[in-house]
Amino acid sequence: MNGVRHLYVHLPFCAHRCGYCDFVTAVGRREQHGSYVDALLRELDEERHVLADPLETVFLGGGTPTFTALPELVRLLDALPPSEEVTVEANPETVTLELAHALRDAGVTRVSLGAQSFRPHLLDVLERGAQPDDVRRAFAHLRDVGFDNLSLDLIYGIPGQTVADLEADLADALALEPDHLSCYELEAKPGTRFTHSWGGELARQADAMEDYFERVVTTLTANGYRWYETANFCRDGKRALHNLGYWLGRDYLGIGVGAVSTLASERRRNTSKLARYLAGSYDRELELLDEDTRARERVMLGLRLDDPLPIAGLEHALDPVGLARVEQLGLAAHDAASLTLTDRGRYLGGAVTAELLR
Ligand SMILES: C[S@@+](CC[C@H](N)C(=O)[O-])C[C@H]1O[C@@H](n2cnc3c(N)ncnc32)[C@H](O)[C@@H]1O
Ligand code: SF4
Repeated sequence: MNGVRHLYVHLPFCAHRCGYCDFVTAVGRREQHGSYVDALLRELDEERHVLADPLETVFLGGGTPTFTALPELVRLLDALPPSEEVTVEANPETVTLELAHALRDAGVTRVSLGAQSFRPHLLDVLERGAQPDDVRRAFAHLRDVGFDNLSLDLIYGIPGQTVADLEADLADALALEPDHLSCYELEAKPGTRFTHSWGGELARQADAMEDYFERVVTTLTANGYRWYETANFCRDGKRALHNLGYWLGRDYLGIGVGAVSTLASERRRNTSKLARYLAGSYDRELELLDEDTRARERVMLGLRLDDPLPIAGLEHALDPVGLARVEQLGLAAHDAASLTLTDRGRYLGGAVTAELLR
């Protein structure tokens, strides 16, 4: 098999662990950054035969990729195959002018900055290390070295966040004029410290979240952003091409601890144990994806996008009765070739998609 056009690289290290996070992370471990990059390059070498040349997208996610010792991060970037889009996730407090230059020089084309909020009391609830001015400073450094594709992550539904707080967060984010914004509803991930302390509060406020989501969408679209995916907004055509690959159901290779790959009829997940990964053991969990599963995923992911979903080959995954029902309710529209959710349908999201699936 060859021709996979999307590569995900997981960098797990973080300065500390935020209570709400359930990604595969490791705190500190400065002494292991070099051996981790060695392990990544070894895995890449073993898997390179599945990749297209050149790639369309590379995404370095975390963890906090920019917490990785800078010479090691640069060594990794220099060794990755060439790609049209190279995104690096960054935490604001790690972005110095030196780091911004190094990313630029190493061929990074896009940086996704985890702002989460601009309200200090809400950043405290999230246990974030960065203050609002760190986000602004990081953003300015990245612009100063010439990045023309910058994204901000925001979280809404933080316990204690009022509607006025949300509007102020959106205004502060817009003031930076990002090319792209991801806005996620805070999720209570099972087993996290955050869910233990705040799970009850998140459940109590759940009903208000539909209104918060609508405010996010109406504010950002009124400011010229395209609501191109449920939680993602862009200006000037700057969609996140890597994530677009996932939503379009493309194959991708993921390397690193805990990384997931989807390769034809197989999904596999590497061990989430850092010591095992460093020792060269992947202990991969395998899931076989039959035609039906892939078609259902294609519908679920494709309907998150504003572009119509081509339905050729997906008919067997769709329930004609459910489709007629949601169309009658004004939540979806279809013609012979494609299916789209209306704005109202997109606000309800997963519930509508569930009705549509057979
Ligand atoms: C891989 S994560 C972390 C990236 C980076 N280390 C950071 O903290 O900014 C990517 C994004 O997922 C979102 N995220 C993480 N945990 C979440 C949760 N429990 N609920 C909602 N969004 C979450 C955050 O917006 C975060 O920026
Ligand atoms: S910095 Fe990001 S990846 Fe690391 S623990 Fe916090 S939310 Fe998770």
